Amino acid sequence: MVALFSGRILQGFFQGPHNREQAVKADELGRGKAVFETHCVACHAADGSAAIPQTPKLTNVEFIASHPATEFYQAVSGGKGIMPAWQDRLSPEERWAAVEYGRAFAYQPMGR
Ligand code: HEC
Repeated sequence: MVALFSGRILQGFFQGPHNREQAVKADELGRGKAVFETHCVACHAADGSAAIPQTPKLTNVEFIASHPATEFYQAVSGGKGIMPAWQDRLSPEERWAAVEYGRAFAYQPMGR
């Protein structure tokens, strides 16, 4: 089980107090927030909890911990299921920032 967790998420859990701002660099989160709230909220919701049934909950720690960030980046870039591809609309930096912002919804203290 522990092997599923990426180092960054482990850090988020065990270097308390833990929150999203500490887990991810603030500037990357800020850029990701802007991209996410412009392009992603229609399906993923502003808090990552999913606005449509087909969308995974980005607040789900097990979901986030069991998928590498590169897999998310590729899904966002090329599209997955009904999610459109973003590679022609967002720069690589914008896509990575949005992915990290999305992953950070699961970096909350336990009990959400
Ligand atoms: C039209 C609705 C829609 C929009 C807009 C959208 N997504 Fe998604 N997203 C989905 C759906 C649906 C899935 C689940 C795809 C599947 O597994 O079939 C998904 C999956 C994901 C995943 C998980 C990918 C994986 O490997 O399982 C991430 C991360 C993600 N979206 C991030 C984003 C980001 C970042 C944006 C904005 C740039 C975005 N999404 C915009 C609908 C959307």
